[in-house]
Amino acid sequence: MNEQQRKQASQIKQVDPTDIKSDQDSNLERIQSIDSDELIGKYFQATYEPPNMKKAKKRLKKDVDVHYDFSIPKEMQNIGKDKKFLIRTYGCQMNEHDTEVMAGLLTDMGYQSTDDTNEADVILLNTCAIRENAENKVFGEIGHLKPLKLEKPDLIIGVCGCMSQEESVVNRILQKHHFIDMIFGTHNIHRLPSLLKEAMFSKAMVMEVWSKEGDIIENLPKVRKGKIKGWVNIMYGCDKFCTYCIVPYTRGKERSRMPEDIIQEVRQLAAAGYKEITLLGQNVNAYGKDLEFEYGLGQLMEEISKIDIPRVRFTTSHPRDFDDRLIEVLAQGGNLLDHIHLPVQSGSSEVLRVMARRYTREEYLVLVDKIRKAMPNATLTTDIIVGFPNETDEQFEDTMTLMEEVGFESAYTYIYSPREGTPSAKWEDNIPMEVKKERLQRLNALVNKQSAEAMKKYEGQTVKVLVEGESKKNPDVLSGYTERNKLVNFKAPNSVIGKIIEVKIIKAKTWSLDGELVEKAVEVN
Ligand code: SAH
Ligand code: SF4
Ligand code: F3S
Repeated sequence: MNEQQRKQASQIKQVDPTDIKSDQDSNLERIQSIDSDELIGKYFQATYEPPNMKKAKKRLKKDVDVHYDFSIPKEMQNIGKDKKFLIRTYGCQMNEHDTEVMAGLLTDMGYQSTDDTNEADVILLNTCAIRENAENKVFGEIGHLKPLKLEKPDLIIGVCGCMSQEESVVNRILQKHHFIDMIFGTHNIHRLPSLLKEAMFSKAMVMEVWSKEGDIIENLPKVRKGKIKGWVNIMYGCDKFCTYCIVPYTRGKERSRMPEDIIQEVRQLAAAGYKEITLLGQNVNAYGKDLEFEYGLGQLMEEISKIDIPRVRFTTSHPRDFDDRLIEVLAQGGNLLDHIHLPVQSGSSEVLRVMARRYTREEYLVLVDKIRKAMPNATLTTDIIVGFPNETDEQFEDTMTLMEEVGFESAYTYIYSPREGTPSAKWEDNIPMEVKKERLQRLNALVNKQSAEAMKKYEGQTVKVLVEGESKKNPDVLSGYTERNKLVNFKAPNSVIGKIIEVKIIKAKTWSLDGELVEKAVEVN
């Protein structure tokens, strides 16, 4: 919806807030009685415009607008008093962080958070579209929420995140899940207060999904999930258009935040006592390419290395844009940790070509070599897709040998899942599921073996652990991560939570290490 359409919408939908009760009653009637064919056109605002993958693909050279003037409309500032919200998050760290922003917006509107769906007045599903099974989970949850909505017609249920940027998903919700109150896209998060207002006072499902390059909205409030580790977006979107991937369509064009805005946020987190930050972007190495001045991730990391925060990570790196300057800066160490997540996707140059990854197996290995020379102890981890269209047995074997040759210490492995609207979805998904599963199983066995071997080397060593809290599996034990992102479990008093302490590793497991405190728990950085 563009500016003009939005204005029209606000003219059309002048609602008297005192009329809210009767609206809720008719809302219930709407949910119970709508026949799907009647729905489109009748129950939507006159301005309804569905997401559009073709538009989302555009990368016009227009400047990205950066907005610093965000505020919550006055009439919404106290609307959540005595009310509660719940946000379910699916997908990657970008989505986790968007949830923190939405939690910030809702908190500033007076809402409190809850984990109990029965208590919630607003439920948001922050969705992920990366693979079909991610979407199935969300539709399962939508189904579970229907009885609750029928019981509590004034409950507001919203669908947001990457799935709401997809035409097929929005159409399915329009046709089959009329009880959803609002759908909004990844570019519309800052509009949540206004959309919530429309949803509360309206008989219609509220929809606002912009399929465009995207802007940057600064100064949005955030309620962060923890007080030890924090996420900082350095850029949004992706321009790589790997042939299998939906992200460039759901998240818009690559756009970098201004360095000073990022640095200020990191400083604030340091001042608030955070011990670790992770710089976020779908392709963080492209940071700065769209800025009007010469600036890249290397320079940004150099600036951030001077800030008094003990640990700085970044994710996700694309091998194509990993330049020498960045390697040089990372090699200086300090608070810049030498764990590099460098998704390779396949070990076959031919598969990489059809994936449009824009590097070959050989080029990837040259990059790994450079990284290892500069940072001999660096830990490398990766993402791999098996069963891409036409992937032969030999090409899969190339992935297995690359896994060993690089010595990845862990990997996220996926079965290829065609995503509607992407180029590869038009190609025949011709690797039978049993073959895909068998490849995945063999690959996972190798990943486990390499992870276990990497873990074994830590036995007897003393490592620095940032203690996060009680272990998820055993509340008598504390857990935290090493600089190279290994999970460590150990017994210690709760007073060490939030500190970086030394732990001696006693026993290595496949995915974690068991250790014990070194003498007294003295904080080390
Ligand atoms: N921006 C990151 C990763 C984003 S998505 C990068 O480029 O590396 C996380 C991972 O999901 C990808 O690395 C890829 O391995 C996997 N993935 C993306 N699309 C997929 C698809 N259609 N099917 C299966 N796995 C996919
Ligand atoms: Fe998707 Fe490729 Fe962009 Fe990663 S770089 S988000 S895999 S298009
Ligand atoms: Fe999923 Fe969107 Fe992240 S598709 S992986 S939530 S960018």
